[in-house]
Amino acid sequence: MTALLITGTDTGIGKTFTACGLARAWRAAGRDVGVVKPFASGSKRGRHEDVDALIAASGTRDAFGDVCPYLFRDPLAPSVAAKRERRTVSMAKAAAATRRVIARHDVTVVEGAGGLLVPVTARETIAEFAKRLRLPVLIVARPALGTLNHTRLTVEAARARGLRVLGIVVSFATPRRGLAERTNLGVLAAHAGAPLLAVLRHGVGAREFAALRRAVDARLAR
Ligand SMILES: Nc1ncnc2c1ncn2[C@@H]1O[C@H](COP(=O)(O)OP(=O)(O)O)[C@@H](O)[C@H]1O
Ligand SMILES: [Mg+2]
Repeated sequence: MTALLITGTDTGIGKTFTACGLARAWRAAGRDVGVVKPFASGSKRGRHEDVDALIAASGTRDAFGDVCPYLFRDPLAPSVAAKRERRTVSMAKAAAATRRVIARHDVTVVEGAGGLLVPVTARETIAEFAKRLRLPVLIVARPALGTLNHTRLTVEAARARGLRVLGIVVSFATPRRGLAERTNLGVLAAHAGAPLLAVLRHGVGAREFAALRRAVDARLAR
C-alpha cells in the first residue's frame, strides 16, 4: 500500500496528464491503482474532467464521491469556491476519505489542486493535506521561462513543511520549444534541488510513462 501526491508549480501544467499516465503505467504493471482528487473546483453538471480522467486511467471501481470528496462549482481555489457555496472544507474529512481509498489499493495517485500552497481551508493548504497523510510529493513543472524559480520555490516550500520530495517532472503542455525550453532542462536538473525524474515531451505515451513509473517506484523504495 503506497500513495503519492502529484502537485505542480502552477495550475494547467500537466498534473492530471502525469497522474493519469502514471496510473495507466502502474495498472499495466499489474498493480491495483486508486486515485483521489480530494478537492476539485470547476465542476460541470456534477462531474469534473480531472476526476473522470483519473477514474478512467486507473480503472478504479471506486465511486465518484469516494475519488472526489469535495467538488465545487466555481473554477477557483478550493477555499474560495467553498466559501461562495457557503460550505466548509474539513481537512480531517478529506484526509479520512483519501485514507479509505489508499487502504483499498496497491498504489494510489492523489492529484492536488493548483499548486502546493493553494488554500483549501481558511488556514490550510494542499501542503498540510499532504503532511497529514504523509504523502511524498511529485512536482510537475513547466519547461518555459519562470520554471527555474517556480520549481525551486515549490521544492523548498515542500521541504520546509516536512514533506518528502520524490522528484520533478517537466511536462510540455504545448509543443513549443523556444530558447527557454531548450536551455532550462539542463539547468533545472542542477538547480531544482530534487531529482528530475522525467521530461515529458508534448504528446508522450505509454513508454515514457513506464520509465517514469520505474523511476518513481525506485524513489518510493528508498
Ligand atoms: N506532455 C504533454 N503532452 C501533451 N499534452 C499535455 C502534456 N502535459 C500537459 N498536457 C495538456 O495540457 C493541458 C493541461 O494539463 P493538465 O494535466 O490538465 O494540467 P493540471 O492538471 O496541472 O491543471 C491538458 O490539456 C493536458 O492534456
Ligand atoms: Mg488537473
